[in-house]
Amino acid sequence: MMTIAFMTPLPTCILMDSGVGGLSVLNTLLSLKLPLNIHYIADTAFMPYGSKSVPVLRDHLTTLFSQFEARWGKGVPIALCCNTASVVMAHLSWELTAKPSFSLLDIITPTVDSISGWHQTKKAITLGVLATELTIQSTVYPQLLAQRQVAINQFYGVPCPQLAASIEGQAEVPSVPLLLDTLLLPLQQAQHPLDAVILGCTHYQFVADDIQRRLPQVPLISQSVVMAEKIASAFGLPFSEETTNDCGLVTLWTTGSPEAFQSLIPKFLPLLPSAKVQSF
Ligand code: DGL
Repeated sequence: MMTIAFMTPLPTCILMDSGVGGLSVLNTLLSLKLPLNIHYIADTAFMPYGSKSVPVLRDHLTTLFSQFEARWGKGVPIALCCNTASVVMAHLSWELTAKPSFSLLDIITPTVDSISGWHQTKKAITLGVLATELTIQSTVYPQLLAQRQVAINQFYGVPCPQLAASIEGQAEVPSVPLLLDTLLLPLQQAQHPLDAVILGCTHYQFVADDIQRRLPQVPLISQSVVMAEKIASAFGLPFSEETTNDCGLVTLWTTGSPEAFQSLIPKFLPLLPSAKVQSF
């Protein structure tokens, strides 16, 4: 007798960033084998986001997300694995205009929530944030922490122009060590000892060791696990390292040169080193 198994299709999630940064979240999702079909879009044609203005980036992202909806259907969750895009779409825009109609999962809220949980045990904290110019100028981190009654003793917001581009290996910007030697000075010379530093741009996760070497003893707050957890919970999926699920399909897309982005995959997506990149 022949039995026919009817398989329920796996749900689809879109992950996006300006480049390789969001792959830090995808690496975590892959290691947890979440049963999701994932489309990862690297908007490299418009990278870097951090030096753009809010209106320019908001118009660009609104058009891009409409293209996602046209391709994958309205209401498919878009996980913003990018702080800068999260500031523009999920926070500032809520204050300035109506809430965007897309189904967005931002990366800043789970990061801030993880700090408010951890903060319960402390009085007032001294905190640093390394992020793009746009994210730092928005003051989204101190604002959201204040909303959650996290007492801040001293806050150091450090904009890191060119760092994301340097992490992607772009030739026209200084090397990562050269940039970090200057960028981290305000944190190295901080008057109050730092309780933690948030890596507030997903690209920085890939140079966490270089940052840690320059800030020994300071706990670095990474976003890949909290964001992966947020995505799992949005789909009602258990978040556990014990899982025996089969992963869904992962498709990589770029708005820029597929060859250029392909060359970055073995280094930045070690669990799927030969995944093919397509042109979006
Ligand atoms: N990875 C992005 C973030 O988390 C932005 C990098 C860029 O400037 O394009 O903010």
